[in-house]
Amino acid sequence: MKKPAVLFVCLGNICRSPLAEAAFNAEVAARGLDATVDSAGTGSWHIGQAPDERATATAARHGIDIAEYVARQVEPADFERFDQILALDRENLADLKRLCPRGATAQLSLLLDHVPGMQGKPVPDPYYGGSREFESVWALVTSAARHLADELAAAR
Ligand code: 4NP
Repeated sequence: MKKPAVLFVCLGNICRSPLAEAAFNAEVAARGLDATVDSAGTGSWHIGQAPDERATATAARHGIDIAEYVARQVEPADFERFDQILALDRENLADLKRLCPRGATAQLSLLLDHVPGMQGKPVPDPYYGGSREFESVWALVTSAARHLADELAAAR
């Protein structure tokens, strides 16, 4: 079977989606799965930048180094390269649907739709928050990462 490819998408690609990427990479590695994992933003403001330092600090508190991640914007080829594109909130999902080229193969969904009991819920933007909001993002993305990795393992 082709190696699964999963893309996490938020607005800036400096707070939520890098944390989702890091959490999912950890779950994939823990299960010995092989997957292509990346993240991107719908917006262009932070292209080429490292993650927000509060996101880097949050990942570091959980033993993961994301300081070398580089923000990028979603591009049309992503809708062919990735099997699954997970939006962190509903606005991200609406933007992805608008950007998705006709006939593209990627499955688009809201990240927390993969967590039982959390369907339809967003991962709130922590940009104007503090470490408490970033920790809450971490809790949500790790829960989603576990369920997504279980789905991948079951589909093998
Ligand atoms: P993210 O957070 O979408 O989780 O990366 C944000 C980052 C930057 C901005 C908003 C949200 N911004 O307005 O620049």
